[in-house]
Amino acid sequence: MNMTPPKFAQPLKVLVVEDNPIDRRIIETMLQESSSPVALLKSTETLAGAFQLLGQHAFDVVILDLNLPDSEGKDTLRSLSSKYPQVTIVINTGAYEDELGLHTLSYGAQDFLVKGKYTAYVLHKALYYALERKRLERELTAAYQRLQETQAQLLQMEKMKVVGALASGIAHEIKNPLASISYGATYLHEQIHSSDAKIQSVLANIKEAVCKANGIVTDLLNFAGATSLHKGPENLNEIIEKSLALIHYELDKKHIQVVKRTDQGIPPVHIDRNRIEQVLINLMLNAIQASPPGGTLELKTYCQGITEGFCTRYNLDKAGFGAGTTVIICDVEDNGTGILPEHLQKVFEPFFTTKHASGGIGLGLSVTKSIMDNHNGIVAIENITDHSGVRARLVFQPCQ
Ligand SMILES: Nc1ncnc2c1ncn2[C@@H]1O[C@H](COP(=O)(O)OP(=O)(O)O)[C@@H](O)[C@H]1O
Ligand SMILES: [Mg+2]
Repeated sequence: MNMTPPKFAQPLKVLVVEDNPIDRRIIETMLQESSSPVALLKSTETLAGAFQLLGQHAFDVVILDLNLPDSEGKDTLRSLSSKYPQVTIVINTGAYEDELGLHTLSYGAQDFLVKGKYTAYVLHKALYYALERKRLERELTAAYQRLQETQAQLLQMEKMKVVGALASGIAHEIKNPLASISYGATYLHEQIHSSDAKIQSVLANIKEAVCKANGIVTDLLNFAGATSLHKGPENLNEIIEKSLALIHYELDKKHIQVVKRTDQGIPPVHIDRNRIEQVLINLMLNAIQASPPGGTLELKTYCQGITEGFCTRYNLDKAGFGAGTTVIICDVEDNGTGILPEHLQKVFEPFFTTKHASGGIGLGLSVTKSIMDNHNGIVAIENITDHSGVRARLVFQPCQ
């Protein structure tokens, strides 16, 4: 019976590993005389030879005899499939090894042939199905990997929800005693007209420490979304000016030069002024802290019609952020240290900080993200490609 063998998507690159010259000849002839052209056909008698050839060429499929001069049985397959997991393997077994052939499928081969019992048609069919199986195996592995990643993300989100709920509960409890300490310190400061500089300095330290603790607690509450927003139409450029005024001491201390490229014609955005001020201050402080003395802080505002590429780059699958939408962008750029690639994924995690030594607590960006989420906006942190430093990008929708 003359059956047409299946057609391959492209000419195959085949490696035949077979120490019996007759068996090898049979396979080579069947492949060479086939109607499906073979792009590359190499053979070797040993496993060592197979490794050498696999290192030199990208074969699609290996036809493998298990009993070779330098390796026996299942070990041959195990060594090959563990060293070259991406290659498709079709076992070529002796008739008495039929049983062994079946078992080998579970050791990483995709099909098996029994010597002396196959025709050119059967050989091609085996290669065709083996390649298909390998392709599906690869797709399955990739899908499984994506599933695992999504599961890890969901777990992280669940954990964050619990952390958020716990944090807001604890934060409320801490805020009251902090207020008492602060009032107490202010009262003592007023009542004790002491000329003792030490007493005055202790009181000032108490107030400063309370203020810092209160700031952290407020950050936690904001992060947990436990405080309500007061949104209205606001001019982003004005909020930038106000934020700059609030951190001018930090800027001066490090002699940072501020370069403003703000578009005065941008439309208003619907935001909570105080929260976005907090976002900008977080981003500017990070920029200053990463900058060398005398560095540059660049602030930009502009409108932009967004493209498909922009949507994909910033994962803008939120409502109203489709391609074609005009958005308002605010970039905070520095020429500082930049962020290590392995840290980029982590910067939005609460308590992730590389500034332990200088008292960083790692809440700035997680709070920023939480605030931007509550404004249906986006915050992205990326390394600048044409010079050192970081670009923090905020994307807002204009007022409807
Ligand atoms: N502009 C920047 N340049 C370099 N690294 C940055 C910048 N912004 C953020 N980072 C990195 O992200 C981390 C988290 O930032 P953040 O959440 O604000 O916490 P913190 O400033 O307290 O460390 C920082 O510790 C730093 O490693
Ligand atoms: Mg910070």
